[in-house]
Amino acid sequence: MWPYPKIVAHRGGGTLAPENTVAGLRAGVAYGFRAVEFDVMLSRDGIGMVVHDPAFGRTIAGQGSVAQTDAVDLAAMDAGSWFGAEFRDEPVPFFTQFIDYCKAQRIWMNVEIKPADGFEAETGAWVAKITRDNYAGELAGGDPAGYPLLSSFSFDALAAARDAAPELPRGYLLDKIPADWQAQAKQLGAVAIHTNQKQLTPALAAQIKAAGYGLFCYTVNDPARGREILSWGVDGFCTDRIDLIGPAFT
Ligand code: G3P
Ligand code: MG
Repeated sequence: MWPYPKIVAHRGGGTLAPENTVAGLRAGVAYGFRAVEFDVMLSRDGIGMVVHDPAFGRTIAGQGSVAQTDAVDLAAMDAGSWFGAEFRDEPVPFFTQFIDYCKAQRIWMNVEIKPADGFEAETGAWVAKITRDNYAGELAGGDPAGYPLLSSFSFDALAAARDAAPELPRGYLLDKIPADWQAQAKQLGAVAIHTNQKQLTPALAAQIKAAGYGLFCYTVNDPARGREILSWGVDGFCTDRIDLIGPAFT
């Protein structure tokens, strides 16, 4: 059973605002979304920041990397100008800012743990602890629909998240589903498989669902494709085109 929303805004507000920014969350809300996926990476001083790329150059101008920059300095960087002049000085958010915004607006979170190389376990454990501490009430309430879902491509990050906060649900991100997917998912205590919609087949979807896992896809921007994979039993997907595929999409 998939207790979470079916349609999720990717990287904050998809392609309607700069990715992984509070402006993105605002765009999602403007389009009626109450579900978001975003990426969290640790700064040099070990603070979770909402950002996708380990290196500067695309969403943050200049040279350098997230893992070699302190959180306070990242938070002062411009993560909006690359997308449009009207988003100039949109900061790199702290993970806790995203949590605060999502709680205030009742937005469900799929937190993707996105460790820089070498920081897999540290990032997984940090994200899990902070999430657990901020969602203690929801976790005690016992309704899984209100729990944030942690996910990662990194087995080690998810294993560390499992050890730090076993009560938080975990989704295992797999670009291409390997033959031993179920053994890995079992080790991680994962509740769901998150996979690339381009690589999914009806047979794989049926196999994952028959094994009792949730099935989530990234990233679907074509409504016809969305309908197709939902017909295969996919429980939910994230989209960049929050203007084309709304929260009530079927
Ligand atoms: O969590 C699904 C999706 O976000 C994974 O790919 O590169 O957009 O983080 P990416
Ligand atoms: Mg992501």
